[in-house]
Amino acid sequence: MTGAENRTVRVAGRHRESDGVVSLELVAADGGRLPDWTPGAHVDLVLPGGHTRQYSLCGDRWDAHRYRVAVLREPAGRGGSGWVHDRLAVGDEIGLGGPRNNFPLVPAPRYLFVAGGIGITPILPMITTADLLGADWALLYGGRTRASMAFTRELAVHADRVRIVPQDEHGLLDLPGFLGRPTPDTRVYGCGPAPLLAALAETTAGWPSHTVRTERFVPRATGPVRDTAFAVHLARRGTEVTVPPGRSVLDAVADAGVDVLSSCRQGTCGTCETTVLAGEPDHRDSVLDDDERAAADCMLVCVSRSVGPRLVLDL
Ligand code: FES
Repeated sequence: MTGAENRTVRVAGRHRESDGVVSLELVAADGGRLPDWTPGAHVDLVLPGGHTRQYSLCGDRWDAHRYRVAVLREPAGRGGSGWVHDRLAVGDEIGLGGPRNNFPLVPAPRYLFVAGGIGITPILPMITTADLLGADWALLYGGRTRASMAFTRELAVHADRVRIVPQDEHGLLDLPGFLGRPTPDTRVYGCGPAPLLAALAETTAGWPSHTVRTERFVPRATGPVRDTAFAVHLARRGTEVTVPPGRSVLDAVADAGVDVLSSCRQGTCGTCETTVLAGEPDHRDSVLDDDERAAADCMLVCVSRSVGPRLVLDL
């Protein structure tokens, strides 16, 4: 991760939540307060070698001294989750960036939450907030097997607001049955693996776009990149940088001595969001929704490029 938002936290607790999922309780190494956060927020854990991984905050947002994250062991992953599972112990200190929130919960009278697997994590604090707000809500939560699904005991207190659907017992989630027809007072929040989010997008295709929000842990599939060179004018500095094919805007401006805060470098975390003053971005990220893309006033410079020959950025 680049930038100055890192702090050091200590692992104060570690719990097995299901087959393949451990949760970590994190406290500031200096014993102080941690930054406030809102449901849907994530933090970066800084792993050995300086690599970062993003994890949703899933604890009590009113506890200013303790964060909770949950980590799924991903055998096909890049090694970060294996290190957390096999090496990270209570008492160890680790770097932490954020929190940031690309998946905020907007006030609404009624929420329908859809979670798949480890995608339950950002939904947990949303449920707490929905309860506090006195909102009507329901959760449809799917997973491979019951034993693989984290936090089911914690969710049991909500009784029939929560539908737990292990795939090996009940098959795939019945999204049309759960979501019904769009109503003006309903907001849908979904988080989970790509096939679930694709099914959710298909089911809600006729819903107004602002009523459905999803969060992705892996980049969404995008069409072929328009990989031609373009110019980026850095408005604050009055200089211009050429972004060649195969190089990101983030790296091209870094070559010119301009550091933009970044973390995932794959368009999923939102850290590198930069204001666009002129030109049309070719959005390649998995963070911005359709309305934000259409507004064309910001872009994620780690992956997004330019439709035209020139962009003007607020850098
Ligand atoms: S660094 Fe994560 S979206 Fe760009």
